[in-house]
Amino acid sequence: MQKRKVYIETYGCQMNVADSEVVAGIMDNNNYAMANDAAEADVIFVNTCSVRDNAEHRVHQRLQTLKKYKSNSPGVVIGVLGCMAERLRAELIEKGNIVDLVVGPDEYRKLPELVENAFSGEKGIAVRLSRVENYDDIVPLRTEGVSAWISVMRGCDKFCTFCVVPFTRGRERSRSVKSVLEEVRRLSDAGFREITLLGQNVNSYRDGDSDFADLMEAVSSVDRSIRIRFTTSHPQDMSEKLIRTIAENENICKYIHLPVQSGSDRILKLMNRTYTSAQYLQLVEKIESIIPAVSLSTDIIAGFPTETEADYKQTLEVMKQVRYDGAFMFKYSPRENTKAWEMGDDVSDEIKVQRLNEIIELQQKISLEQNQPLVGKTVEVLVERESAKSSDEWMGRTDANKVTVFPKGNAKIGDLIKVKVHKVNSATLFGMIEQAKKEIPEYRVAVNL
Ligand code: 5AD
Ligand code: SF4
Repeated sequence: MQKRKVYIETYGCQMNVADSEVVAGIMDNNNYAMANDAAEADVIFVNTCSVRDNAEHRVHQRLQTLKKYKSNSPGVVIGVLGCMAERLRAELIEKGNIVDLVVGPDEYRKLPELVENAFSGEKGIAVRLSRVENYDDIVPLRTEGVSAWISVMRGCDKFCTFCVVPFTRGRERSRSVKSVLEEVRRLSDAGFREITLLGQNVNSYRDGDSDFADLMEAVSSVDRSIRIRFTTSHPQDMSEKLIRTIAENENICKYIHLPVQSGSDRILKLMNRTYTSAQYLQLVEKIESIIPAVSLSTDIIAGFPTETEADYKQTLEVMKQVRYDGAFMFKYSPRENTKAWEMGDDVSDEIKVQRLNEIIELQQKISLEQNQPLVGKTVEVLVERESAKSSDEWMGRTDANKVTVFPKGNAKIGDLIKVKVHKVNSATLFGMIEQAKKEIPEYRVAVNL
């Protein structure tokens, strides 16, 4: 009998991308094949994000368009996975009647059984959160590429007051060092060139006596030719030991994503971020003294409840002081059940947009200024894929995570090469290959979905 086919569509953060690979692994183990297109699938999973209202809105819209698959082929099973499943539960099944399954982030092992039941017409909901589930033993089915994600911890215990994640993904729990190292070994054997360790709060990782610095040290020594990245860090857990581990291991990228959220101490307190702007700046100073070439990026929220013009100006001040290489910048979006939800949403949309635009404008100016000194310099780039704009050019990233575009020359995907930069803008470096650095065996696709 031909295998049934599953198509997975992923919204939201990198954790979701990693989770979709876990789901693909589970389905693959249960005799399903992967579809490249929703049109050829017997099962469509939509892995969703709840972090902001517009993320949910996009999924609702997508479910509307999936209605047509359902009316053309009523046998297709449609499942909503991830954070929206956890947050909205039965509501998703009741609404519009196209969703057959609603499965939260800790219940993916049940998917094969729930899908089987759905084929016989039974709708299913599984949204229990777990204190222990970490999918330690599931081998994710990865898409081709040079970079792989490994999720090393799940959940979040920080309870920032604006954030829905502690409610949709539950309590923090870490995988064992042993299973992470086994996965790194497998990825090395499969030819991957870059690994990003993932967690909602990755630097609060703990397995017995091992903390995140110990894990990074161990991971980086499995294969020194593989670049190691990690995300996302909370400033509270950015220990000196971890900073030194990053400094001392050549293959750990000198790039730290360190969300600040706001520059106002009053707002940081309301956000429950557990640091003041002065403490955050001290931390940045410490990082820069231990890793002089470090590149920093951040997350910023504009228009948190009660944010005044003066609060917002302090955010701009912190941005000017740190001079981030990049930032993810958001309008505050009230999320039901969070503490901030109860604080109201008193900053008008107009003001939020205005503040956000100014934040983006300032960041673009700083990013450009940060990139300009690279003109004429040589950077090391891992070749990732063809550039979106031209089939004659490759796109890759520097150690500092800067997107770099250059003519293909003799380079292959997966090569680590030197590129001389001749032009920059705020988001991209443009250059020419200088010389091949290391001979790396021809890149092999790990698993072709
Ligand atoms: N509104 C706006 N941005 C948010 N984030 C999390 N919750 C919200 C919200 N309710 C942002 C934070 C976080 C990033 C992943 O998303 O900046 O660091
Ligand atoms: Fe959300 Fe804060 Fe946890 Fe990040 S640290 S996932 S923003 S609660």
